[in-house]
Amino acid sequence: MADVQMGDRDTETFAFQAEINQLLSLIINTFYSNKEIFLRELISNASDALDKIRYESLRDKSKLESQPELFIRIVPDKVNKTLSIIDSGIGMTKADLVNNLGTIARSGTKEFMEALQAGGDVSMIGQFGVGFYSAYLVADKVIVTSKHNDDEQYIWDSQAGGSFTITRDVNGEPLGRGTKVTLFLKEDQLEYLEERKLKDLVKKHSEFISYPIYLWTEKTIEKEVSDDEDDETKKEEEDSPCCLVTGEYGWTANMERIMKAQALRDNSMSSYMSSKKTMEINPDNGIMEELRKRAEVYENDKSVKDLVLLLYETALLTSGFSLDEPNTFASRIHRMLKLGLSIEDKSTEKGGNTATENYTIDAKIPPTAPKNVT
Ligand SMILES: Nc1ncnc2c1ncn2[C@@H]1O[C@H](COP(=O)(O)OP(=O)(O)OP(=O)(O)O)[C@@H](O)[C@H]1O
Ligand SMILES: [Mg+2]
Repeated sequence: MADVQMGDRDTETFAFQAEINQLLSLIINTFYSNKEIFLRELISNASDALDKIRYESLRDKSKLESQPELFIRIVPDKVNKTLSIIDSGIGMTKADLVNNLGTIARSGTKEFMEALQAGGDVSMIGQFGVGFYSAYLVADKVIVTSKHNDDEQYIWDSQAGGSFTITRDVNGEPLGRGTKVTLFLKEDQLEYLEERKLKDLVKKHSEFISYPIYLWTEKTIEKEVSDDEDDETKKEEEDSPCCLVTGEYGWTANMERIMKAQALRDNSMSSYMSSKKTMEINPDNGIMEELRKRAEVYENDKSVKDLVLLLYETALLTSGFSLDEPNTFASRIHRMLKLGLSIEDKSTEKGGNTATENYTIDAKIPPTAPKNVT
């Protein structure tokens, strides 16, 4: 490993480990059409880093003090043609930057190159422990600024080409804690500065990230990536059978998600913090009308209960909340799918005139049971 002192006495230069160097050349010089996966890889690293600080904070709460909020921010800058992915995760010390981003090759480095040469897809990169380097699919220069609780803020900087530099960050904006990865996009990759494109990619590849992902938009207001859907929901309110509203002083859906992440999934804690939700139903809506009729005729019909719960859970989702028991929701959906496809439920095969009569409800009624307001 070369450690050459450069003109700037605070900047150290390091040579990339040979295999990493090869990997970088391959990523830069080979044509891959599926470049968009870089964002998924960087968001996945951000999420991993957030998991790590959250885990550490279980033993020592004070570790969160340097930045209490756990988030991922995506900031496109059209003037400078840069895209930054910022997280408030565990961050990297100077030694971490040197070791993790260039001098210590993972066993997967060589395997991944072999897989690529054998015709594999570049999107497999995440399986080989070298996802970070996919940044060079779209960028010709990458700067990583990072702050770990145990060290000062440092800057990693590389245009590939064999080496990277490390500099103590004395003038930059303090991160508090976490990492900012700034991509200087290639001239033909400027589409990754477009709000629409970024939103679509986050939805497509990073759907199950359990931290809020904020996108910096042109109007210089930050929006959570799902906010658009919330607006749409609002627009469609008139046509939808029901919606969920939170009390004036409760958490918004957005806040509840952040609190759930921060409460370290301790449900006992998040339950009193979460907002009281009211399910408002639209009595003129066709679905509601039919459900009411059925509920009157088949008073204890399980399929009707199933449908009502499904309606509630769907409203939770469209209002931006998360489901406490996604599996129960999924099995309800599956039963509906089977019904739609006229497939008999296994449990209904022996007896029962209609498939619907045999539905069982395996979900408990949510603590905030649907309430008819309007
Ligand atoms: N945003 C980040 N915050 C903190 N550490 C990071 C961040 N991004 C990368 N790292 C460090 O750099 C290492 C290399 O990242 P890379 O994406 O190449 O591999 P990986 O995440 O370990 O594996 P994979 O991408 O296959 O899941 C990570 O293991 C982590 O230690
Ligand atoms: Mg990774």
